[in-house]
Amino acid sequence: MTILTTQTAVVLSLACLLAANVPAEVSAAPAVAGSDSSKLHAYSVCKKPLIRKEWRNLKKSEQKSYLNAVLCLAKKPTIAKRSAPGAISRYDDFVGVHAKQTPEIHFVGYFLHWHRYFVHAYEKALREECGYKGAQPYWDYTYDVTKGGNMTSWPLFDKTYGFGGNGPYVPYVSFIPGRTGGGCVQDGPFTYPQFSLSLGPAPLPIRFDVPPPTETISTSATPILTTTTTTSTSPVPTTPTLPKMTDFFPPTNLTISNPHCLKRDFAPQYLSDQVNISNYRLVLSQKDFASFAFLLEGGPFVDPSIGTLHGGGHFGVGGSLGGMSDPFLSPSDPVFYMHHTNLDRVWWKWQKAGKKGERYRDVAGPIVPFDYQNTVKGNVTLDYVTHLEELGKGAKVRDLMDTKGGFLCYDYEEL
Ligand SMILES: *[C@@H]1O[C@H](CO)[C@@H](O)[C@H](O)[C@H]1NC(C)=O
Ligand SMILES: *[C@@H]1O[C@H](CO)[C@@H](O)[C@H](O)[C@H]1NC(C)=O
Ligand SMILES: *[C@@H]1O[C@H](CO)[C@@H](O)[C@H](O)[C@H]1NC(C)=O
Ligand SMILES: *[C@@H]1O[C@H](CO)[C@@H](O)[C@H](O)[C@H]1NC(C)=O
Repeated sequence: MTILTTQTAVVLSLACLLAANVPAEVSAAPAVAGSDSSKLHAYSVCKKPLIRKEWRNLKKSEQKSYLNAVLCLAKKPTIAKRSAPGAISRYDDFVGVHAKQTPEIHFVGYFLHWHRYFVHAYEKALREECGYKGAQPYWDYTYDVTKGGNMTSWPLFDKTYGFGGNGPYVPYVSFIPGRTGGGCVQDGPFTYPQFSLSLGPAPLPIRFDVPPPTETISTSATPILTTTTTTSTSPVPTTPTLPKMTDFFPPTNLTISNPHCLKRDFAPQYLSDQVNISNYRLVLSQKDFASFAFLLEGGPFVDPSIGTLHGGGHFGVGGSLGGMSDPFLSPSDPVFYMHHTNLDRVWWKWQKAGKKGERYRDVAGPIVPFDYQNTVKGNVTLDYVTHLEELGKGAKVRDLMDTKGGFLCYDYEEL
């Protein structure tokens, strides 16, 4: 066990896309927001699942139609004014809803479930509102990281059949080693003003500068939590010192419309230290959901010598100044969905590897962000309800366990 210095703790906490704000009151089944969200999803039979493929396995015409559908979403008017009054486009709606819920949906037991639902809603919008015929693709970075080379030469970042490349280098002192960009994306479909984001960006001078509380972390995969105790003789209540989102990042004001460009800040070395094949195998070798999800997501309680797939994808592409590295606004970069679909695939692969379907029922992890030791509340269960504000009604965790059950109907080409 190591007591971290404040500085190291900042690094580690951010290295997992820290997003934690302990809500004053979190009920086991939180009130479901949204116009029709008092209703839950009904079960349906999944006969013809959409098959999600790796980006490089799509035909060129399929790549083009996907990219065009994303651009189409960015031209359609918002429907999420209640959650994000500053949103202009349907694309912004997804950024806004993620930003609004960021304090509750990370470092909790339903992190993967929420993002599974979120990507599904995005895939549905692309198909139903923008005429996209295919499934949401994913990015398996282990191919690229193993092969190496310049990130801008990887298929995903192709300027014609991909998401375009890096931004020009902007000097900035940061905890991400070897960042190479930071400015507006220069080529490909997502340049400004063709692709315009309305929400954010977060005020940079404040980002990363505020020291977090000192944390104790474990060198094993088991989370250890520091607690502060008083030295009174009466029975002492133990107060958990859970990290909070606002310890590191200023909240983004979602009422402001501020059309701006997408930025990227590639950090190739960081990416390959986090998402390489050994870290990927380590995650998949976990025996229970709690350990699997904990390692996959990363965070200040995870041994810093272990890379995290989640943090790696975000900070490897977003560095410090890019859209992908902002815990609230990370869906600003369309690559967000390629990354999170891949995490969903890794989870599905892990789920399918279980004996007798036991992993389709395995869920654990805290209700309250970072509360891995249940000092504040218990674990998420199959009956826990989550929702997507205007983008999706209430869904039970149990209905987000099976990609071909509940209301979901998709599978992956390669596992
Ligand atoms: C990667 O490619 C880009 C675009 O061609 C170039 O600007 C950059 O210098 C290259 N990076 C390295 C490390 O070679
Ligand atoms: C957000 O911005 C709006 C519009 O400028 C302002 O009225 C409001 O006070 C801001 N909210 C916060 C929390 O700063
Ligand atoms: C993956 O990265 C870790 C550091 O996070 C390193 O220890 C390990 O050797 C790397 N594995 C490969 C195959 O590059
Ligand atoms: C929460 O889940 C963890 C991991 O499975 C488990 O060790 C712990 O006992 C659970 N807590 C409660 C209160 O059930």
